Amino acid sequence: MSEKFYITTPIYYPSDKLHIGHTYCTVATDAMARYKRLQGYDVMFLTGTDEHGQKIEDRAKEAGVTPQAFVDKIVTGPKGVVDLWKLMNISNDRFIRTTDGYHVSAIQKIFKKMHDNGDIYKGKYVGKYCKPCESFWTESQLVDGKCPDCGREVQDAEEEAYFFRLSKYADRVQHLLEDTDFLQPRSRVHEMVNNFIKPGLEDLCVSRTSFTWGVPVDFDPGHVVYVWVDALFNYTTALGYQNDEYQDFDAFWPADVHFVGKEIVRFHSISWPAMCWSVGIPLPKHVFGHGWLLLDGGKMSKSKGNVVDPYILAEQFGTDALRFFLLRTFPFGSDGNFSNELLINTINVDLANDLGNLVSRTTAMVGKYFGGTLPAARQADPLDDDLLAQASALRGNYEEQMEKYAFQNALAEVFKVISRANKYIDETMPWVLSRDMEANGARLATVMYNLLEVTRICGVLLQPFMPERMERLFAQIGADEGVRTWDSAARFGALPAEVSVVKGENLFPRVDVEQALAALDAAAEAAKRAALPPVEVEPQLEESVDFDTFCSCDLRAVKVKDCQAVKKSNKLLCFTLDDGTGTDRQILSGIAAYYKPEELIGKTLAAIVNLPARKMMGKESCGMLLSAVHTEHGEEKLHLLILDDAIPAGAKVC
Ligand code: MSP
Repeated sequence: MSEKFYITTPIYYPSDKLHIGHTYCTVATDAMARYKRLQGYDVMFLTGTDEHGQKIEDRAKEAGVTPQAFVDKIVTGPKGVVDLWKLMNISNDRFIRTTDGYHVSAIQKIFKKMHDNGDIYKGKYVGKYCKPCESFWTESQLVDGKCPDCGREVQDAEEEAYFFRLSKYADRVQHLLEDTDFLQPRSRVHEMVNNFIKPGLEDLCVSRTSFTWGVPVDFDPGHVVYVWVDALFNYTTALGYQNDEYQDFDAFWPADVHFVGKEIVRFHSISWPAMCWSVGIPLPKHVFGHGWLLLDGGKMSKSKGNVVDPYILAEQFGTDALRFFLLRTFPFGSDGNFSNELLINTINVDLANDLGNLVSRTTAMVGKYFGGTLPAARQADPLDDDLLAQASALRGNYEEQMEKYAFQNALAEVFKVISRANKYIDETMPWVLSRDMEANGARLATVMYNLLEVTRICGVLLQPFMPERMERLFAQIGADEGVRTWDSAARFGALPAEVSVVKGENLFPRVDVEQALAALDAAAEAAKRAALPPVEVEPQLEESVDFDTFCSCDLRAVKVKDCQAVKKSNKLLCFTLDDGTGTDRQILSGIAAYYKPEELIGKTLAAIVNLPARKMMGKESCGMLLSAVHTEHGEEKLHLLILDDAIPAGAKVC
């Protein structure tokens, strides 16, 4: 039976749409999960949503919906969390929502268990509360009187509440952090110990009575469980801890690693181990605190209006290019500055120039010199040695970095070999060898085979990062399932000697920087407009008319026989209409800004036909076409009332 590997992402607050920062962590977790599967592990990859708390309750109230309806829309609605993970090709095995019934009842049992064993007691909470972060703080923890995490205002809070005896675990937590590799990277340890443990670890307030959107404390109505207790235990309830929904707890717990952003390391490395000790379950093996993606040096947040939309980027550059960029560019443990220019540059340099060129040049040469299939004959040369040595060492070097969650370094190892292969083409000069195939055929076949093998090995190791593109790469270089495996990445020579290639489409087309930046601006602008209330309808209705007056309007269906722009007018179109009388009717209409004349020919429209004729630009207009007019994002819009073509000309509209 294969060894288990359990990895998690933080579960996301569905208070807003997710941005590229959230995507970063989930893509990293996905790459790690895929890497472990590639190695043969039986992987459990969990993600989900953290749906309780005052912030959600408030946001739902503002939106005029129930909290459940509010979170449902962001989690499972169009372009919500679930959709985003599909788009990003996230291979999670399980998705937990903290509003799932099994989780709610498990949290009640867990809370009771901690209460019964004396770790949770009732007291009075007096302190400060940061609403956006859902965090309680003591005076001494505030920075300049503000929330130490987000820098925003905090509010006074005093209420009857339950407390978790976190202080009791202070020494054990300090030892865990300082003397083991539980928390990574190491730099985070000092931060936790100096900022939170050394000043004195206080008991944690773990229930609230001032709002209701949370897991109710079943033995004390009016209290809901603090959102971080509810959230942290998701890692266990999603496996079946304290519930019957799943039966995987014994097999997968303790987690191998929780990937979390740096601002929530505190909860994961101090509160979480203490809670695990309290309920008597083993600790997760590691917590890794990754850095933030910054925009213009600051954290992205909806309230600052500086979030980057992963939908726009994935649609423009492709999912795999975006996934690759995130992990190739920023060291996982540190902050990184996001920019569109950096993204485009990474695609062009690494993917289009280095990898894309290697694949397209190699497959093109195998096609040109050998009709697509290599002969078996070989002739080695010392020129091959360095490339072969680097390719053979690659899997080990890559693994060493991946085991440290150093995605950037692992990818750097792969791209070193890709560059080396491109240089090998220049050194071996296949185009010179090809001039005398009789003398050099075996040597040329060897060069081609070496290039295909290096490409294949790199492709195997790039699968966790770009799963979809690597499938296409394998199809082009003739690498079937058996040589896409972890084992085969350590075996130079796994491709069959007489391998056939298929020249396919360019895997990573070069991006035109200016065009792409302009398209991104346009997409961001369109997204901003789409987020505005869609249609502003004129609120003022006309005064009422009596019924007879209304009936005196003769409204008819008319068919457009011809439509022409009126010379010297940029507003008017001149319609020749069949109104059912047998005589053509001419109507002029000021709609040239909205329609091209030719697109209206043949359409069935509605017109008032008993208005007195009047002249416009020297032409007579006998009636008026009906249309709907409204304002959208400050711009006037007009739509002719286009009727069903089955309606005959002259039919009365009433
Ligand atoms: N609900 C909690 C997690 C509970 S886990 C038991 C939460 N949710 S969150 O939606 O606010 O954040 C989820 C993750 O996204 C966090 O790890 C956070 O660090 C990460 N990121 C949010 N913005 C980010 C960046 N700009 N850059 C990188 N990661 C970022 O916290």
